[in-house]
Amino acid sequence: MDIFIDSADVRDLRAAAASGLVDGVTTNPSLIARSGRDMKEAIAEICSIVSGPVSAEAVASDVDGMLAEGRYLASIAENVVVKLPLTPAGLTACKLLVQDGIRVNVTLCFSSVQALLAAKAGATFISPFIGRLDDAGLDGMELIREIRTIYDNYGYTTRILAASIRTINHVRDAALLGADCATIPPKIFNALYSHILTDTGLQAFLEDWRSTGQSILK
Ligand code: E4P
Repeated sequence: MDIFIDSADVRDLRAAAASGLVDGVTTNPSLIARSGRDMKEAIAEICSIVSGPVSAEAVASDVDGMLAEGRYLASIAENVVVKLPLTPAGLTACKLLVQDGIRVNVTLCFSSVQALLAAKAGATFISPFIGRLDDAGLDGMELIREIRTIYDNYGYTTRILAASIRTINHVRDAALLGADCATIPPKIFNALYSHILTDTGLQAFLEDWRSTGQSILK
C-alpha cells in the first residue's frame, strides 16, 4: 500500500520524507489555510520534497473554473495531481482534465456509488473519507470494502486512496481491505513505527549486548 502524508506543513513533510517511506502527499484548502502559506509556493515546495503524486485542490464550483484552476495547479510541477470534489461539475471537469493528460484525485467521497462515478470519469484516485464517516456514527471501512469490490468487479484502475485517517487501526484496516494508498496525518505516520514490545525487546537486547563487552566495529 502506498503511503501518502496528509499535510501542507513542509517541516512535517521533510521529516516524513526523510524516512524514505513516503510515496506522495495530499493537501486540501483547510491544510493550506493552516500552513499560513501562499498555495502556489507551498505546493511547489512540497513537490520538490516528494517526487510522487502531490494533490492540490481546486476551489471553483463550476466546470470552467475547475478546468482553469486545475490546469494552473497542474502547471506548478509535474507531480501535481488536481483534487476535485465529488460533485457533478467536479466529475465533468475530471473527465476533461484527464483527456488533457492531467491526473485527478476525486475527493469528499462518502458512498460507493459516488466512487463508481469517479472511476467512470477517469479519476486517478478516489478519496473515501473514513474518519468523517466514523465521526457521523457510520462505518468508514465498510466504504473501502464496497469500493474495492466494485472496482475489482469491473476492472476500474482508479486507485483507492483511504483518506481522513485518524488512527493506526484505520491504516491497518485500509491495508487489509486492499486500499491502494492511505493518506496519513504526520502524527499517525510517526505512530506507525511504535510498539511497546519493540521498545522493551530492544532495551533488553542492548543491555545483554553491553554485558558481553564486545563491539561489532573494531
Ligand atoms: C484527504 O485528501 C483529506 O485531505 C483529508 O484526509 C481529510 O481529513 P480530515 O477528515 O481529517 O480533515
